[in-house]
Amino acid sequence: MADIELDAGVDPAFREDVLAGLAMRPRAIPARWFYDLRGSELFEQITDLPEYYPTRLERSILEANGGAIGEVIGSGHAVVEFGSGSSAKTPLLLDAIAPAAYVPIDISGEFLRESARALSADFPDLPVHPVEADFTHPVPLPGSIADMPKLGFFPGSTIGNFIPPSAVDFLRAMKETLGTGAMLLIGMDRVKGEDVLVPAYDDAAGVTAAFNLNLLERINRELAGDIPVDAFRHRAIWNDMLARIEMHIEAVRAVRFSVAGQSFEMAEGDTIHTENSHKYGERDARILLRAGGWTVVREWTDEADQFALILAEAQPEKSAP
Ligand code: AVI
Repeated sequence: MADIELDAGVDPAFREDVLAGLAMRPRAIPARWFYDLRGSELFEQITDLPEYYPTRLERSILEANGGAIGEVIGSGHAVVEFGSGSSAKTPLLLDAIAPAAYVPIDISGEFLRESARALSADFPDLPVHPVEADFTHPVPLPGSIADMPKLGFFPGSTIGNFIPPSAVDFLRAMKETLGTGAMLLIGMDRVKGEDVLVPAYDDAAGVTAAFNLNLLERINRELAGDIPVDAFRHRAIWNDMLARIEMHIEAVRAVRFSVAGQSFEMAEGDTIHTENSHKYGERDARILLRAGGWTVVREWTDEADQFALILAEAQPEKSAP
């Protein structure tokens, strides 16, 4: 069937990823497309769920170790936050380390400027320089922070949403953005039992299910789709071999639908893979960081060692064999 004309405001990359993802086997659509306005709201709700421990634990680690974090890092840094979003955990870090500047980087300009304004109100003496950019690639930083020591901040365990080779590329890009001598404070979720992991991604209130299925609603809204959303259900499974939670959307009956003028069919039980959330043991995390050009300096975890906040320093380009 011929392509149909779509709204001018629709991101062409969304259309491409969805059409390619529905045509490939196994079907897969990148997780970054979860985050339209509704998806971002649902994600905020996820972070408050009793089953979703990462946000709570990371916040408690920052709260409990602010003094030690401040001592190891020292003051006067330009803090560069990757994918700053609502900058929810940023004040905890800024309070701990007395920074010289704050540079939030996010692809969503509107959201970025809004949260930069809110943060400036709380830290009136701190220069804030928002940068609208795709932080997965090297980003030129504002000239005004050129002479300051840099601390990258990447909380939330979002590194786990990249497959390991892409995570390594991304860590290298962060190193290039920040330059030699930089440090990085990064949140990573630990491997743990399925009894904790699966409910965290398949909560009793169904918020994660709504978050996953909103992708279909978004396709219908933005790409002239007619997907019968009630013919699908949310699945969260632990893939032990790959040490990751996978989210899928599964057809509960045979369906036909069209998206952007193209027709698709799915049989009962067919799935669309929508997200990976990799979990890293203590040594896995160190190896991943080393592969990405960073050496671990210190780690802070919660009492049950379920989540880690890791401080690493950029390796010199040519380190010993
Ligand atoms: C953004 N990211 C770290 C979340 C995670 O835990 O992988 C996304 C998420 N997906 C479902 N629940 C939360």
